[in-house]
Amino acid sequence: MSYSVLLLACVLAHHAIFAASTPPTSVGVCYGTLGDNLPLSSDVISLLERCGIYKFRLYNPNLNVLDTLLRQSDRMVSVGVPNEHLSILASSLDEARNWVAKFYTPYRRLNIENIVVGNEVVPGENAQYLVGATRNLYTAFREATFPDMILTTALSSGSLVNTYPPSQATFSPEAIGVMTDYVNLLKELDMYYNMIYIHVYPYFAYAADPANVRLDYALFQATEPVFHDGDLAYFNLFDAIYDSFMWAMEKINGQDIYLAVGESGWPSAGNGNFTTPQLAQTYMTNLYQHIVVDNKTPKNSKGMRGVMAFALFNENLKPPGVEQNFGLFYPDLHAVYPTPFCQCKC
Ligand SMILES: *[C@@H]1O[C@H](CO)[C@@H](O)[C@H](O)[C@H]1NC(C)=O
Repeated sequence: MSYSVLLLACVLAHHAIFAASTPPTSVGVCYGTLGDNLPLSSDVISLLERCGIYKFRLYNPNLNVLDTLLRQSDRMVSVGVPNEHLSILASSLDEARNWVAKFYTPYRRLNIENIVVGNEVVPGENAQYLVGATRNLYTAFREATFPDMILTTALSSGSLVNTYPPSQATFSPEAIGVMTDYVNLLKELDMYYNMIYIHVYPYFAYAADPANVRLDYALFQATEPVFHDGDLAYFNLFDAIYDSFMWAMEKINGQDIYLAVGESGWPSAGNGNFTTPQLAQTYMTNLYQHIVVDNKTPKNSKGMRGVMAFALFNENLKPPGVEQNFGLFYPDLHAVYPTPFCQCKC
């Protein structure tokens, strides 16, 4: 291949990944709002459009953001139901009807990807309400003549045990009962598609045990398999975590439920040299490539159904340390580091 052909191939490959006109619909950003210095929602939605970020995840039905979206944009949104609302939604169908009437019906023109019932609620004191709340919301959406709304939930890897090697992973004793009931509910409801968001954070595994977890393995940079699990070869920690969820789901007969990545990120500050803008940029760039281009794990050859990058902004009301420093952007709308999730210069 001549040099110029090679160069053209590189330019085309680069274009395919970064072309601003065609953002991949599988990629979005989590819009957390735990900051007292965050921009106006209209400026945030303009930022998403400028950056070619096609969809975003809201952790609660923030009426201010939803109203702005209605006026201003066709961005797709995933809307969360806060954990503390689950018990009342589970307790009565009327409460679920009220929820739909207040937070959904005025916004039915919006491009709503799904409703996330509970965020990392399993295991925990509100986990017991997940199935009941989901069932009541499902009924309420059907009555509101919107039978195709996708209901889901979001899980942290704290719901798993025995994740090494991934094939040994199961839901923890505290989580497995609820998760079994939840998987059975999804199968019974048989929505247009059944999916669960999983939160995948190689950063936390690396930071907890840097003596044994290699940085190149956490950052998608290993060039040889780091370990084998049966026939499966693992080059990166992200895949090991993703596949742990797959194995745990399989053990409760949930293998037909899609696992989409509802959060993944790397903090740019807060923990010394483990958290620099350079490391965060490397992780996020390689994550994007892995989801958009590779789109498979050793166990999942069918595709990962996208990722929501965590997070849009540094949020100063979260616990001090790394938690405040996951943002792709500072509250003043400047990028913390360049990333393919944002296809513009900000
Ligand atoms: C952080 O600094 C320590 C001590 O200098 C060093 O051993 C380690 O490799 C550094 N880690 C990273 C991720 O740069």
